[in-house]
Amino acid sequence: MNDLLDSIDITAAPPENEPMRQYYFMKKCRGYVEAESKRLGRPLYAAINTFGCQMNARDSEKLLGTLEQIGFVGTEGEDADFVLYNTCTVRENANQRVYGRLGQLNNKKKSNPHMIIALCGCMMQEEQVVAKIRKSYRFVDIIFGTHNIFKLAELLWERLDREKMVVDIWEGTESIVEDLPTERKYAFKSGVNIMFGCNNFCSYCIVPYVRGRERSRSPEDILDEIRTLVADGVVEVMLLGQNVNSYGKTLEHPISFAELLRRVNEIPGLERIRFMTSHPKDLSDELIQVMKESDKVCRHLHLPLQSGSSRILSAMNRRYTKEQYLALADKIKTEIPDISLTTDIIVGFPGETDDDFEETMDVVRRVRYDSAFTFIYSKRTGTPAASMIDQVPEAVVKERFDRLLAEVQRISAEVSGRDIHTRQKVLVEELDDHVEGMVTGRLGNNTVVHFRGGAELIGSIVTVYLEESKGFYYMGTLAED
Ligand code: 5AD
Ligand code: SF4
Repeated sequence: MNDLLDSIDITAAPPENEPMRQYYFMKKCRGYVEAESKRLGRPLYAAINTFGCQMNARDSEKLLGTLEQIGFVGTEGEDADFVLYNTCTVRENANQRVYGRLGQLNNKKKSNPHMIIALCGCMMQEEQVVAKIRKSYRFVDIIFGTHNIFKLAELLWERLDREKMVVDIWEGTESIVEDLPTERKYAFKSGVNIMFGCNNFCSYCIVPYVRGRERSRSPEDILDEIRTLVADGVVEVMLLGQNVNSYGKTLEHPISFAELLRRVNEIPGLERIRFMTSHPKDLSDELIQVMKESDKVCRHLHLPLQSGSSRILSAMNRRYTKEQYLALADKIKTEIPDISLTTDIIVGFPGETDDDFEETMDVVRRVRYDSAFTFIYSKRTGTPAASMIDQVPEAVVKERFDRLLAEVQRISAEVSGRDIHTRQKVLVEELDDHVEGMVTGRLGNNTVVHFRGGAELIGSIVTVYLEESKGFYYMGTLAED
């Protein structure tokens, strides 16, 4: 990487092609960081604060990769010379958190006027958000969106060059820029984008508007990236897409997600494959077979339900009924009995009656999820559901939400203890937060286990005897292979 930057002539005009154009701007910005750091007698720090989903987490690794090339030293929190919020807008409370924290950042900037504040990600794709920031948060330096995160170096240079707020939001894009630097949070596992955007337009969801149309990366690019990751010590990958089951449909040479999984499964040295998220309407028998036959694909499927009422599912534009969902869950459990199923559920979608809600409770009791993320419906401007008239009163939603959560937790505590007194393969992820001399790892089905061990185990797959179930996690002991 350094050789690449060394070979770039920054006195020449910037290259037209990506990613070379960004490497050129990385080198330009590097001059600024070096000079500032000399002046201050310390390194310049950069902190990325990530909101939202795994896609954003992966984007943040790319953003940090660029910042480190520029010469910043990565740090956590907000005491830094460059602070970036990678935002989420899937629910309104995510937006509120960003505004709240921006207020506090303003105070920090007053005591460190050289601080550069940047905002990117889904929330920035909304016009009214950018208008509000331009008006009321004028201390922000750079705003960009989801389609041009690869452009960070160029935008930073622009900001340094002209000392004015830089705003660059794209409405969409056809292209996918490959081969930018990344800085992984974990040495041994990594997210891998396989597609971007979403074409489903569930009526409550803002994602298709802020992440754009579905675009798949070529299988060759994906496989190359995973091989490089494995050579660099990665043993587990999480294939990421808003709806992985429709992967590959728009490629010049279409391939199915199941076929992609088969090819990923063949990569030597790779131990575990996860993926997220599956839309129930597109989950194929072929995929179930690949999961069943593969020794690397983890026995975990996140299958968002959203609602158990066919009437509400139709209003949500989910394109499956309660019965179809239940039949699918049954089929998966029959084919892969040790699978762990998790889900997302929205409570209080417009028009949801007590009866509709009871249908959701019914599915929860029948499927018996290992865990479920439960959300209160949040009205997103510009989505079809936002203009539906019969929004459910807050108190009713709250009561339903609490009941659902209690049921989900009760079932989850029963279900997730089912592997008690067995030996399981565990990927050791980190030192235990609470108890010295302990480590934390995950089973293939994603359940957490704590057991005695040291830092030398991190990143390896070991066999652990599951001694005690604590409801959502196990206590175990290291066992012989
Ligand atoms: N309100 C509440 N939850 C939502 N989700 C998406 N949009 C909304 C919304 N407007 C939830 C869905 C999705 C998860 C990522 O977020 O359950 O699966
Ligand atoms: Fe949103 Fe539906 Fe697309 Fe998921 S599949 S990102 S819920 S529109």
